[in-house]
Amino acid sequence: MNEDTPWHERFFAGAWQRVQPNSFSPEDTRQSAEALRELLQLDPGATILDVPCGEGRIAEHFAHWGYRVTGVDRSEAFLAMAQEKAGARDLQIDYRQANMWQLDALGHDGSYDAALSIWSSIGYATEEDDRNYFRCIYDALKPGGALVVDTQCLETLLSDFEERQWYQAGEILVAEQRHFDPVSARVLSLWTFAGADCFEQTESSLRIYSYRELESMLAGLGFADFESYGSMELEEFELTSPRLVLVARRP
Ligand SMILES: C[S@@+](CC[C@H](N)C(=O)[O-])C[C@H]1O[C@@H](n2cnc3c(N)ncnc32)[C@H](O)[C@@H]1O
Repeated sequence: MNEDTPWHERFFAGAWQRVQPNSFSPEDTRQSAEALRELLQLDPGATILDVPCGEGRIAEHFAHWGYRVTGVDRSEAFLAMAQEKAGARDLQIDYRQANMWQLDALGHDGSYDAALSIWSSIGYATEEDDRNYFRCIYDALKPGGALVVDTQCLETLLSDFEERQWYQAGEILVAEQRHFDPVSARVLSLWTFAGADCFEQTESSLRIYSYRELESMLAGLGFADFESYGSMELEEFELTSPRLVLVARRP
């Protein structure tokens, strides 16, 4: 990696690899997966595309419930963790390594009942990249298939903007100092990861869409039947909601 390496390639390959798997308790993840299951009301054996799937924390719940799950991520390290966890529980999950902005290569046309985009997995690169990602997901879904996007949006971010945040992820203290640039609509963050055997500072830059922008992007790709919720607790989405959980369907 060098100075020209995009932030997301640097970030997800660094200390974040120890942070991500420790960012949610097993109980929180189980509750999120159950909320998604409730929301999707899938038939037994339904097919699910989880991208990016990280270390498979959501994918493995759906596999355990008997759904046929494909998990896609670019990180070899997260996929290795995911494979190991699935192997230990004897779960069959089709994990694939790919760039989510170039999913065409996976040839997933029209075979999925649902697709998951969980935990702020958009806005890393350009709007065109996000459009490509959602276009490939649209193509991957069966008619009637649902996409769920769980993300921060402009309304949820700015109604309660905090310039400094920190939390503990396993043995690592995570501190984020952030600045919102209204011209590019991006949150620029400086992250510090500190632990007994780790100290890293790295940056991120996230395009934050408003609800209308995101819905328009999806509608422009053909998605319809939008529903929105304010978190994985599935309450109504409003200005002060903690998250946007947006459901859209391929007609
Ligand atoms: C915030 S995590 C979310 C992971 C998962 N959805 C979850 O809820 O735990 C973002 C994930 O995106 C992956 N990622 C980043 N850029 C990617 C890309 N271009 N293509 C595929 N995966 C990517 C990272 O490796 C990481 O696992």
